[in-house]
Amino acid sequence: MKTGDLFDVRGLATIVTGGGSGIGLACAEAMADNGARVTLMDIDAARLDAAVARLRDAGGDVRGAMVDVTDRAGLNRAFDETAAHYGRLDVVFANAGIGGGPGFLALDGARNPAGAIESIAEEFWDRVLAMDLTSVFTTIRAAARHMKSRNAGRIIVTTSISAGKTELHVGTPYVAAKAGSAQLVRQAAHELAGYNILVNAIAPGPVATNISGGRLQDPAVQASFARLFPLHRMGNTDDIQGIALFLASPASRFVTGAQIVVDGGYTLGAAD
Ligand SMILES: NC(=O)c1ccc[n+]([C@@H]2O[C@H](COP(=O)([O-])OP(=O)(O)OC[C@H]3O[C@@H](n4cnc5c(N)ncnc54)[C@H](O)[C@@H]3O)[C@@H](O)[C@H]2O)c1
Repeated sequence: MKTGDLFDVRGLATIVTGGGSGIGLACAEAMADNGARVTLMDIDAARLDAAVARLRDAGGDVRGAMVDVTDRAGLNRAFDETAAHYGRLDVVFANAGIGGGPGFLALDGARNPAGAIESIAEEFWDRVLAMDLTSVFTTIRAAARHMKSRNAGRIIVTTSISAGKTELHVGTPYVAAKAGSAQLVRQAAHELAGYNILVNAIAPGPVATNISGGRLQDPAVQASFARLFPLHRMGNTDDIQGIALFLASPASRFVTGAQIVVDGGYTLGAAD
């Protein structure tokens, strides 16, 4: 088997939610640069336009759609429209998500009252769960509806290392939502395997993106995080691209229900 065949995504009709920035944009780029037809869905018009222009300039067959993934009817409409446009739907990245607010410790190790469990506002809890868990369910549901009839498809969910471990510097609602999302991936993979729809997760560690107001792009935050990584640096969005391509392509045809951690060894614990 040649690498070109193993990782062939040419022509695949692909949706990436939250595709206007960060990890979603990196997944979209990996697909578009390798010949997939990609629709980016995002709530931020300026980011969406810039992302579509960038990928088109590089020769990509790319379009954008303004979609709020928490608007269930709007999400369904956008999926229907996109599937009709391509005549099929092959790959869906359920990626859009937001941060979970401050953790219960600050980066200097002191208690952070704003992140304490009794400080979490109910409205904020609901918002994070709506974005980081419920929207994953509605995205998988919309994808399955289109993929089942063709007996083929790939659904790739961006979870997080927070799905499987507790966190000091990450907000509690996020950890809970991502754990739910990871289990949803396994459950959907089990159910949809009979329809040849593979459902997997990418679980990144900290990656410098626009999440949480771009906090992880702050050089001081990066420096303080870097020493916690055995590979001595925080992740960049292009570190995710190989796994995105793997999970969308024939190379992963016997992989379903998996969660692939991409974290530079962060979950192993700090080393030298
Ligand atoms: N950056 C990290 O350290 C990290 C680590 C693990 C997992 N993740 C996950 O990766 C995913 C992408 O996050 P990112 O870090 O690339 O962040 P990001 O903020 O750079 O990108 C997220 C994109 O989602 C869009 N978005 C936000 N709300 C939306 C909505 N209601 N509908 C549609 N689009 C919406 C934003 O406009 C943005 O373009 C999230 O699920 C996040 O939880 C991020």
